[in-house]
Amino acid sequence: MDTPLLFVLMLQLHLLLHLAQSHPASPSSIELPVSIRPHPITLSVSDFGATGDGRHYDTAAIQSAIDNCTCSPCRVTFPPGNYLTATIFLRSGVVLDIQEGATLLGGTNMEDYPRESRRWYVVVAENATEVGITGGGVVDGQGSGFVERFDQRKNVMVSWNQTGACTGDECRPRLVGFIGCTNIRVWNITLREPAYWCLHIVRCESTSIHDVSIYGNFTSPNNDGIDIEDSNNTVITRCHIDTGDDAICPKTYTGPLYNLTVKDCWIRTKSSAIKLGSASWFNFKGLLFDNITIVDSHRGLGFQIRDGGNASDITFSNINISTRYYDPSWWGRAEPIYVTTCPRHPKSMEGSISNLAFINITANSENGVFLSGSKRGLLRNLRLKNVNLSYRRWTNYADGWVDYRPGCRGLVHHTTAGIIMEHIEGLEVENVYMRWSDEHSKRWNNPLDFRPSTVNNISLINFHSGLYTVREVESEGGAYA
Ligand SMILES: *[C@@H]1O[C@H](CO)[C@@H](O)[C@H](O)[C@H]1NC(C)=O
Ligand SMILES: *[C@@H]1O[C@H](CO)[C@@H](O)[C@H](O)[C@H]1NC(C)=O
Ligand SMILES: *[C@@H]1O[C@H](CO)[C@@H](O)[C@H](O)[C@H]1NC(C)=O
Ligand SMILES: *[C@@H]1O[C@H](CO)[C@@H](O)[C@H](O)[C@H]1NC(C)=O
Ligand SMILES: *[C@@H]1O[C@H](CO)[C@@H](O)[C@H](O)[C@H]1NC(C)=O
Ligand SMILES: *[C@@H]1O[C@H](CO)[C@@H](O)[C@H](O)[C@H]1NC(C)=O
Ligand SMILES: *[C@@H]1O[C@H](CO)[C@@H](O)[C@H](O)[C@H]1NC(C)=O
Ligand SMILES: *[C@@H]1O[C@H](CO)[C@@H](O)[C@H](O)[C@H]1NC(C)=O
Ligand SMILES: *[C@@H]1O[C@H](CO)[C@@H](O)[C@H](O)[C@H]1NC(C)=O
Ligand SMILES: *[C@@H]1O[C@H](CO)[C@@H](O)[C@H](O)[C@H]1NC(C)=O
Ligand SMILES: *[C@@H]1O[C@H](CO)[C@@H](O)[C@H](O)[C@H]1NC(C)=O
Ligand SMILES: *[C@@H]1O[C@H](CO)[C@@H](O)[C@H](O)[C@H]1NC(C)=O
Repeated sequence: MDTPLLFVLMLQLHLLLHLAQSHPASPSSIELPVSIRPHPITLSVSDFGATGDGRHYDTAAIQSAIDNCTCSPCRVTFPPGNYLTATIFLRSGVVLDIQEGATLLGGTNMEDYPRESRRWYVVVAENATEVGITGGGVVDGQGSGFVERFDQRKNVMVSWNQTGACTGDECRPRLVGFIGCTNIRVWNITLREPAYWCLHIVRCESTSIHDVSIYGNFTSPNNDGIDIEDSNNTVITRCHIDTGDDAICPKTYTGPLYNLTVKDCWIRTKSSAIKLGSASWFNFKGLLFDNITIVDSHRGLGFQIRDGGNASDITFSNINISTRYYDPSWWGRAEPIYVTTCPRHPKSMEGSISNLAFINITANSENGVFLSGSKRGLLRNLRLKNVNLSYRRWTNYADGWVDYRPGCRGLVHHTTAGIIMEHIEGLEVENVYMRWSDEHSKRWNNPLDFRPSTVNNISLINFHSGLYTVREVESEGGAYA
């Protein structure tokens, strides 16, 4: 057990070098010779006494390893094993290296989490720079331990609200959080069974999320995949998300969100695959979603702008979508594309959406597209280009509703249509093929439905609508299941 001491000595040596380097009178950089530049330090949690047996808490050992990482960059390694832990706090310069075969298991008792509910995560970094998680292993929130009553429609979850720590029925820990951080890297890691949201990026700058798989529970509410709040310059690539609630969900609570790119992802969810909002107090600007496959989801590409923030300059390209109905207790009515602004409460502000493009999109869906602005929250300059929409019913859930939730008018009876439109200023439709299955859907063969509200400046170029046989679409590679 004398290894830690050796590491401490090495760390001190590096610290001395670092001080020597930062001392010169002129702040202009003096490069150290390559040979004595600090190499990344690696500390193993085993050397700090972690058992990895999945039964004893390894919290103290893991936190000691992290706290001994005082030199950047520093890796804290988890060899294969199961590490049960209460909340662990990352610090600047530290990357958790959870190796293949290693699983970090979040505790399921309230005492495992800090006093303030806003810090309830299994792993959290606050105000840190150069932090990350990698290694090919797993972080698991043991979400099943938070299921109070299994219900095949929607599980009823435990809420720790009795203690007054927070209110409502969403009072449970998230899995991994970065709050107020800069230069974050989360790559090559599996995040599993969060009790609540999974990966939470809050007020961060420069985040890269790459090769991350998320497996939530398809029946548990609030099992969001990645929630990005009030953060700039976020890039998500090669993600795989299979979960019950919204998969990728940008929100604004305390500041704007700029520059989010999401590419090369696969998503299945019982809610929205991509959802902006519903928290939307500030603006969203400069978002790109490209090369994404969405299967079996309740809603594909969604905007729920409800609180006065404006969304602009947003592109969705090269996306295949299959959306279907699920139980209506889950928001969504099988819409492949859902763009809405409305005041959450009668007195809420109304945000608008402008410069929005959907290019190279193929959808096989049980319901149509819903484009619904509001009086003071217009949809401006929308473009649909190279979009193929195929409509067919294959579940037995009832149709004939439009879904304004959360807030606004709630669920409203309305006949189904290919594209429903209201409060739009500028809509360009180009190369759009809308196809209706020849099986059961004749009764809702209604391509364009202008609701009795403003819809101005529409241009339709090469817009087709007609029946198809199922075989026709399947031969083009449009999968249904
Ligand atoms: C370093 O680890 C040792 C345990 O090996 C622990 O006692 C000590 O508090 C740690 N140092 C810091 C700065 O956390
Ligand atoms: C992080 O920074 C914010 C804003 O400066 C501050 O309110 C908060 O207490 C800091 N948190 C920690 C853990 O240092
Ligand atoms: C992920 O980590 C594992 C274990 O270290 C490694 O074998 C694998 O190559 C890594 N994959 C990627 C894509 O980096
Ligand atoms: C979801 O949770 C329920 C209840 O705990 C459990 O029976 C089921 O196996 C879980 N499903 C998955 C995919 O984890
Ligand atoms: C606590 O959560 C339950 C659901 O788990 C909910 O019914 C109840 O209203 C909540 N109580 C408070 C005070 O938030
Ligand atoms: C994001 O950029 C905007 C515009 O420059 C700025 O107001 C906001 O503070 C930035 N947010 C963060 C978390 O850096
Ligand atoms: C967003 O990206 C653009 C283009 O790269 C850049 O000019 C701008 O500064 C970025 N915005 C923020 C808030 O970082
Ligand atoms: C699209 O994403 C998939 C992963 O989901 C990847 O295999 C494929 O190479 C990407 N295609 C392009 C053109 O980048
Ligand atoms: C949204 O746009 C409206 C109209 O330009 C503006 O009054 C409002 O302040 C904007 N909202 C935010 C959060 O900037
Ligand atoms: C749309 O698809 C066409 C044909 O595959 C391609 O040439 C074009 O670059 C794509 N557009 C975008 C914005 O990806
Ligand atoms: C849409 O269907 C048309 C006609 O079958 C086809 O030419 C076009 O390539 C398809 N577009 C996309 C984006 O799949
Ligand atoms: C969408 O489906 C078409 C036809 O099967 C396929 O060529 C394309 O790669 C798919 N794109 C995505 C992003 O899944």
